[in-house]
Amino acid sequence: MPAGFPAPPPLAPEFIPRHIALVMDGNGRWAQERGLPRTEGHRRGENVLMECVDACIALGHVEWLSAYAFSTENWRRSPSEVRFLMGFSRDVLRRHRDELHEKNVRVVWSGRRPRLWRSVIRELEAAEELTRNNTGVTLAMCVNYGGRAELVDATRRLAEDARSGALDPAAISEETIARYLYRPDMPDVDLFLRPSGEQRTSNFLPWQSVYAEMVYQDTLFPDFTPQHMYNAVLEYARRDRRFGGAVDKFAAQ
Ligand code: FPP
Repeated sequence: MPAGFPAPPPLAPEFIPRHIALVMDGNGRWAQERGLPRTEGHRRGENVLMECVDACIALGHVEWLSAYAFSTENWRRSPSEVRFLMGFSRDVLRRHRDELHEKNVRVVWSGRRPRLWRSVIRELEAAEELTRNNTGVTLAMCVNYGGRAELVDATRRLAEDARSGALDPAAISEETIARYLYRPDMPDVDLFLRPSGEQRTSNFLPWQSVYAEMVYQDTLFPDFTPQHMYNAVLEYARRDRRFGGAVDKFAAQ
């Protein structure tokens, strides 16, 4: 950990989320509030994301951090911002690949191939290849990701397998569908964290987040610190997770 990095709260492993989904939101607003171009906010987000990875490592027991970097809806932004975000994603991956590898982080990509710049796919695949045997935190870079797009893509492949006879429609279960998602190895989300004041999920990991604990914070992503992540985990630790079950406190014994 870098010198002076804040210490995580002392929590028993069962209170630490195994999978954190992070919406890196508020970059544009942060920049515009300062009279800067929106792209300056994204630039500030680069180191914040790396600190989030460090915070997950420091917490221990966090196995997956999924970061929403570019959604299938982000293509609606201005051509210049889209161009910036593509080049930026490529450069961020290149700049941090070795450092993430040294930290034993496994980088994986979750998202859709069509439209995504070839140079971005190349960097994502290079990072995946370099870090594939790492055993620490898995950082899922969700680039050109959309939850509905993921379900559409899964359904198409599943329907093809059903048509070819490789899959019996009557035998389709939740586990079958999970196997067709972009990352079949991705565990369910425990903590869904969105800073920036917005309280919505914006098409991020809907299948995986059905029982996630939602934590919304008011800080814009460029101002987000490891302490914000620790606070979110403390909030998560206080929640009572029942997964649809219930206990009647007053039932006759
Ligand atoms: C949302 O803020 C943020 C993004 C669309 C991009 C964030 C991406 C990074 C910080 C790093 C990307 C790195 C890789 C490797 C892909 P916003 O523009 O929606 O902010 P606003 O809600 O204030 O407009």
